Amino acid sequence: MTEATVLPEEARDDLLDRGYTRRQLARVGSVFGAGAVAAAFGRPAWASGGVPDPAPTAKVRIGSNECWAGPLLPGQRAAQKIVASSNRYAPHDERNDFLKAVMAVEGVPYDHIAPWPGSSDPLSRAIVSFCSPQRGLVTADPTFELAGRTADWLGAPVKRVPLRADYAHDVRAMLAADPNAGVYYVCTPNNPTGTTTPVADIAWLIANKPAGSVVLVDEAYTHFAGVPVASPLVAQGRDVIVLRTFSKIFGMAGMRMGFTMARPDLLAKMMRYDGGMQSGALPLPSLACATASLTAAPLIAARRTEMEEARGIALDHLRARRVAVKPTNANMFMIDWKTRSAKDAQTAFRAQSVEIGRSWPIWPTVSRVTVGSAAEMKAFCVALDKVLA
Ligand SMILES: Cc1ncc(COP(=O)(O)O)c(C=O)c1O
Repeated sequence: MTEATVLPEEARDDLLDRGYTRRQLARVGSVFGAGAVAAAFGRPAWASGGVPDPAPTAKVRIGSNECWAGPLLPGQRAAQKIVASSNRYAPHDERNDFLKAVMAVEGVPYDHIAPWPGSSDPLSRAIVSFCSPQRGLVTADPTFELAGRTADWLGAPVKRVPLRADYAHDVRAMLAADPNAGVYYVCTPNNPTGTTTPVADIAWLIANKPAGSVVLVDEAYTHFAGVPVASPLVAQGRDVIVLRTFSKIFGMAGMRMGFTMARPDLLAKMMRYDGGMQSGALPLPSLACATASLTAAPLIAARRTEMEEARGIALDHLRARRVAVKPTNANMFMIDWKTRSAKDAQTAFRAQSVEIGRSWPIWPTVSRVTVGSAAEMKAFCVALDKVLA
């Protein structure tokens, strides 16, 4: 299959203008045409450690930043209800209902919102849309790897900039690392550290970045942190794309729902590879569940409190055992084993049927652990004592 058979003409011409070779074009065309963007640009989020995840056999699964509980009850009910009328593509106005819910909660205009099956797809799609062999990606280190993997795969130059001492993104160093990049990726709260980058820093980056580039703000974990979000920058019409997912606090990882908020012209650039198919045709139960969940503010807040209490159990125990833990403001924390490799620690926990998370090359002795339920955190503490013994 050649790129010409898959990519719309407008998308093909744009890619050629931006310096893609015909060979690279074929790659873009084959994955976007197949609608399998993120999976083709590396491994999907749940298997991005480089080793097949053996978690299904572990009793305690705190390795993949999933939620310890399923969708919020109003979401579950809405999803169940709509199954019976799913013979129709759109029995009522489900997609619009979702967009209106996002509008109400985030305060951005209707045409500034696009739903997606999760946020991995639009994340990779944004890299293809705004990076090129001439305009690279700037990302933090450590951070969620998918943006960097997508750019590497496409042959766009990537600069990885260490986090600041307080584990926020160093936006000034990011701009200095490549003053002509196509995308500056800011993950806040950051995966894997759980630390946040102030909206003022994001606004500074937007104000100072080169023309024609975008700041891609990944807020997958924002409800766990309860800090100001970047949606107002979208409403102000800036060069920013905000990514959200229902895979984290909403407990919907397997339902595949997310959305982006950005100016319509930026969203249109992300749609041109498949004519908007991925965003336009989403499973009704996922849409209905997301709509009912997004507006359930008291339940979201209760989940955050539950996470903070469970996280406290683990952090108190780690401190009591004098194990070094980095600061966090989300549903994950990083343990520095100092004299032991993170891979070793993961194997030792696995022997206790506890699946902890992966590590990042920049910090080989540091493991990421996801906050689970209080019971899971207690089981983690018991396993920790055995691992340290
Ligand atoms: C920071 C961040 N962004 C995006 C994703 C993608 O998740 P999904 O495709 O399930 O929305 C993840 C998943 O772990 C993540 O940690």
